Amino acid sequence: MSLSHIHIRTYENTCPSQTDKHSVIQDGNLSVTPVLQSEDSAFGAEVTGVDWSRPIPEETVAQLVALQNKYAVLIFRNTGLDNSRHIAFSQQLGEKLEINPFFYGRENDRLKEALLFDVGNIQLDGSLVERDSRRWHHSLGNALWHTDSSYHQQRSKYSILLSHGNPVKGGSWTHFADMRRAYADLPQEKKSELENLIVEHDLWHSRKLASPIVYGNPLPHELAAKPPAYHRLVQTAPDGRKTLYLAAHAKVILGYSFEESQKLIWELIDHCTQPKYVFSMEWLFGGDMVWWDNRQSMHRANPYTESMTARDVRRSTIIDDGPLAYGVTLEEKPAVGWKPQTMAAT
Ligand SMILES: [Fe+2]
Repeated sequence: MSLSHIHIRTYENTCPSQTDKHSVIQDGNLSVTPVLQSEDSAFGAEVTGVDWSRPIPEETVAQLVALQNKYAVLIFRNTGLDNSRHIAFSQQLGEKLEINPFFYGRENDRLKEALLFDVGNIQLDGSLVERDSRRWHHSLGNALWHTDSSYHQQRSKYSILLSHGNPVKGGSWTHFADMRRAYADLPQEKKSELENLIVEHDLWHSRKLASPIVYGNPLPHELAAKPPAYHRLVQTAPDGRKTLYLAAHAKVILGYSFEESQKLIWELIDHCTQPKYVFSMEWLFGGDMVWWDNRQSMHRANPYTESMTARDVRRSTIIDDGPLAYGVTLEEKPAVGWKPQTMAAT
């Protein structure tokens, strides 16, 4: 399978203007500037007023979680956080953080932290990731619309991406899509069709879509490390609205053929990533940080290119501990007509 059937849009910068103060909402000592607003929904917000120079008080954490539940993506500029304070704040948001599967000891890791994912493009020796290296090809999948770790049976709740160094202006973006509003706009007939569907998510499916030559046949230890996981397509977001849990990792809808599954999955991703549901955040300064909710948004990175500039972005991933964290159990699968042979479709 190639990318030829997938429509991937590019977008203009819709980050909030730094000079437009008309839409700023005061929330206690925090100032909140929403990014996308419609009559019944708000998505993305730039937040100022957090004192990142010291541990974040629990009442501020609760205030930020309430904002997060509403906006799904929060942007903070110039935080000045380092690795340890990035991790410490992340640990205030959930019991467990994901371990970076590519961490092979401090001496082999540029970040020297197992709880941070090195999702930039810089190698241990300071040079940029080489074209056609395995890391280059692995990263191409991050440019497809996805939600982090949907291929884990215990999925992730939040991701927090922090920039270090000085990004080149115009060189680095992350794009976000509002899955709650996209779901709300679907016709009722489509909502009924989707209501009880269960999706198999597989990291190697998205790697193969983005890089069919290198990841057409993942290595045995790669496959063993990341088996597929099963989650409901239609879920309830923290604010009580329904949302779609979808990603490029989505491979098969249980009870559907592989071809039928991919047709519906990419039809839905295309719907959810229309410009009216999407904004792009530009990385402006070292210390910029974006915190998003994987349960109610999708995102994508800019792909690696030969003209890319250095970007040093580091991600913590907070594991979900809520009622939908563990996805679909074995007992639930037969109820939707799941047959084991549909899994061998690729
Ligand atoms: Fe991601």
